[in-house]
Amino acid sequence: MCGIVGFVGHREAAEFLLSGLSKLEYRGYDSAGIAVFSDRIRTIKTKGRLADLRAKVEAEGGISGCLGIGHTRWATHGAPNDINSHPHSSMSGRITVVHNGIIENYLELRAELEAAGIRFTSDTDTEVVSQLFDFYYDDCGKDMVETLKKVLVRLRGSYALGILSTDYPDRLLAVRKDSPLIIGLGEGENYIASDIPAVLESTSDYYLLNDNEIAVLTAESITILDAQTYAPVTRDIYHVTWDISAAEKGGYDYFMMKEIHEQPEALRNCVGSRLTEEGIRLDDITFSEEQMKNLNRIHIIACGSAWHAGIVGKYVIEELARVPVEVDLASEFRYRNPILSPNDLCILISQSGETADTMAALREAKRQGIHTLAVVNAVGSSLARESDDVLYTMAGPEIAVATTKGYMTQLGVLYLIGLYFGAARGTLKPETAAKLSKDLYALPDQVRTLIEQDEVYQAIAAEHAAKEHAFVIGRGVDYAASMEGSLKMKEISYIHSEAYAAGELKHGTISLIEPGTLVIAVATQDTLYEKLLSNAKEVKARGAYVLAIVKEGCTSIEAVADKVIYIPTTDDLLAAALTVVPMQLIAYYIAIERGCDVDKPRNLAKSVTVE
Ligand code: AGP
Repeated sequence: MCGIVGFVGHREAAEFLLSGLSKLEYRGYDSAGIAVFSDRIRTIKTKGRLADLRAKVEAEGGISGCLGIGHTRWATHGAPNDINSHPHSSMSGRITVVHNGIIENYLELRAELEAAGIRFTSDTDTEVVSQLFDFYYDDCGKDMVETLKKVLVRLRGSYALGILSTDYPDRLLAVRKDSPLIIGLGEGENYIASDIPAVLESTSDYYLLNDNEIAVLTAESITILDAQTYAPVTRDIYHVTWDISAAEKGGYDYFMMKEIHEQPEALRNCVGSRLTEEGIRLDDITFSEEQMKNLNRIHIIACGSAWHAGIVGKYVIEELARVPVEVDLASEFRYRNPILSPNDLCILISQSGETADTMAALREAKRQGIHTLAVVNAVGSSLARESDDVLYTMAGPEIAVATTKGYMTQLGVLYLIGLYFGAARGTLKPETAAKLSKDLYALPDQVRTLIEQDEVYQAIAAEHAAKEHAFVIGRGVDYAASMEGSLKMKEISYIHSEAYAAGELKHGTISLIEPGTLVIAVATQDTLYEKLLSNAKEVKARGAYVLAIVKEGCTSIEAVADKVIYIPTTDDLLAAALTVVPMQLIAYYIAIERGCDVDKPRNLAKSVTVE
């Protein structure tokens, strides 16, 4: 999704803006631009990558000034081209804007403004904001805040906005609703950005804005105005504890590889402090023991990999806490008029905490008065702030579009929830809880040993990189993990891959198996191992290349499989955290073999903040 940066201070803004935008590349973009106040507001923008923008800035002799805004655009309204790139200025050129989000009523506003004689130059929804601002500007005595108040009344949809006016060479206005935006605090300079990495080289301190609060930034001051009364409000300063190197590649070729290697530590952070001698400690969640005991049903709602984690969560929570769990795709949940009852709990899972569909699902749950619990990585994100309770996954910043440590730590939290709810509901024997807790504590080191078998995955990738199709099969928790392994293959290596419940293959899909088809057979569930062995034989008999992922000691699979990867012994319920690791790395190395851009797969964005 789009990325925004803004700067006001006493040094050249352009360098900050370009560097800040480069830290937001992970959000996905197809064009970029900056606007800097010199004697007037000068805008340079282009379709393409940031390198293209930088080249254009240099070709135009640079762009000097100490106040500016920048943007990376992920096209929603209008093609990715120079004209539709942000920033967007009003017809008079007085007002210039960057925007992330979608103005839902932009056509109606545009028609109204065009009828008043205003000419538009782009196809974007964003341009209505600069034009509308300009339209009201004189009536509001050229007061930026007064004008913005009037503009906000007219906008429907989501927005994070950075706004400049030619009348104010010293200030930058910002506002957000349902789109992320932080305010960075510098010394003699201040910033806005869609995410923390964009400002981290300059500051570790930032403010969060609530919906429709207006921020007025000058080099020396930040004023935040209440969303209703517009009176100045005070805000806690958040302090980032990780430094810029944590948001950089740290010596790896790709962020994805760095993040795969960070999984043991991330999982340790996630579960370590919550697994105590006295049992599971789950931060400050307000969902009481009484409520856990009276639980009717849990609904887990998420998108993509977070949804896959949720499916693992269903197996785990149902087994340990003996409560029915439904898992929904957020994009389906929000429109299917879900039946929720007062004793239900909705768990919403998201790495970014800004996924539009997951946010909409949260609001639907809240509308129905159901207790909501967010499992989220991004601290202070919209999902975290709007849910009744939050359990942070503590993965640290995840930059690669394809999630790895985000998913891994989501599993970590779901395991903890299963244990915690199981204990509260009295459905989990203390000795089982103790054994599972011990296995959970051991997981991070087991993940590490799997990551270390790098050459194995490289060799498998080299052998299968030219294939166009793959299947990943499993039963129970293994089927849930197969979905994530299959998605990794699809999104970064562009191999058509499907996850199948192994018992379902013979009901149709087995007709797709041809000599040489890659079938990854995940078989770690003790009670289902023999069944999976039979399914592996079925595809082998039709010529498939079978790559098996099994627990240590399950050597009988060698008679069927062409290649076997052994994972360390763990409880069946926890196996997904291990089986996913070889699949992540095989997908990674296949993507490298195929020359794909691992961190920025085509057509994808890290944070999906539109429907
Ligand atoms: C996974 O690799 C993808 N990036 C995607 O499926 C992602 O998990 C999904 O968009 C949900 O994102 P979220 O966790 O930030 O809500």
